[in-house]
Amino acid sequence: MSPIDTLSRTESEKTAVQVAENITHLVPYSPGKPVAEVERELGITGIIKLASNENSLGPSPKAVEAMHQFALKMHIYPDARSFELSNALASALEVDPACVVLGNGSDDIIHLLGITFLEPGDEVIQAHPSFVRYEAAAILNNAPCHMVPLTSDWIHDLEAMAAKVNANTRLIFITNPNNPTGTIVSQEALDRFFECVPERAVVVIDEAYYEYAANREGYPETLRYVREGRNVVVLRTFSKAYGLAGLRVGYGIMPPDIANWLNHTREPFNVNLMAQEAALAALSDTEHVDKTVEMNEAGKQMLYRTFEEMGLGYTPTFANFIWFDSGKNSRAVFQALLHEGVIIRTGDIFGAPSHLRVTVGTDAENAKFVNALKKVLPLL
Ligand SMILES: Cc1ncc(COP(=O)(O)O)c(C=O)c1O
Repeated sequence: MSPIDTLSRTESEKTAVQVAENITHLVPYSPGKPVAEVERELGITGIIKLASNENSLGPSPKAVEAMHQFALKMHIYPDARSFELSNALASALEVDPACVVLGNGSDDIIHLLGITFLEPGDEVIQAHPSFVRYEAAAILNNAPCHMVPLTSDWIHDLEAMAAKVNANTRLIFITNPNNPTGTIVSQEALDRFFECVPERAVVVIDEAYYEYAANREGYPETLRYVREGRNVVVLRTFSKAYGLAGLRVGYGIMPPDIANWLNHTREPFNVNLMAQEAALAALSDTEHVDKTVEMNEAGKQMLYRTFEEMGLGYTPTFANFIWFDSGKNSRAVFQALLHEGVIIRTGDIFGAPSHLRVTVGTDAENAKFVNALKKVLPLL
């Protein structure tokens, strides 16, 4: 061994990275597999991705137009308070602008809630399976996260969640519609839940898929809890129905004192200028959102019919994805679909080994998925 080798080994041992204990429990987020990666790995083209609940219609054309216009302004910093966008959201939602906090995606707000509210000894409650970033916020802040199983119908079990509440409970996450199952909780269930929750706990209602559910019967109105002055944060995003996932704009609506503290903890320029302008334009593009929701409704019905014909169980959805039971190993189904140029999500990461989650796409994408599924399932 040369002196150089010896030196480098000793040096790397000396500098072995020591991270905080809680960080070693973090599982890096596993995003939907990118199209370019599958193209590289399998050498095929024409791949479709129905794995990340994106909007297959693309961004709002008004947002695209705004981005072209504002490209020439990229040498200036964004407005740190996202003044215009916050005000536009506040007036659309009929809340005070002081109730709105913008984030680099709603992920950012989840992160901010963790660092703002959690101290060692505090506890978090979430449903399982549900969105994985809540647990990450808990781990980052040394707070245990209680995972409360969904009911057998894949719905949040709010009674069981309420039973987990104690004096240390600080954050409670309710995902409505839930990801990955597309199910919702009712207004009555939420009202009953709030009767059991102490003031000290902040209840976060994650409505990332709000636009798909808003006009459906049974979907609760939750901003009223904020207006009533409860410690409630409602999360929404421009990533899903508005088709702006790549830009990263999400927001929370909450009582002004909570908003004030999140404004202390967030990065000053957490929403970039292009994102602020595009989101502002997208907000006025109701035509694009309506078209998106319409496409989703038609796609859902077609996929339901297919699952029924194939004898596969599925969960009726309030969002733009469907949770279905392939009856086979979900990893094997996922791999076989990849070879057919279709990327979806396995359920095993959510603890459901034969389930998968597919995003509802355009007619052509849905048809490609259905043909691929019909081809691969009998072979597995
Ligand atoms: C339930 C839920 N919440 C939050 C997010 C994060 O969305 P974004 O950070 O893009 O706003 C997602 C994204 O998939 C989600 O499914």
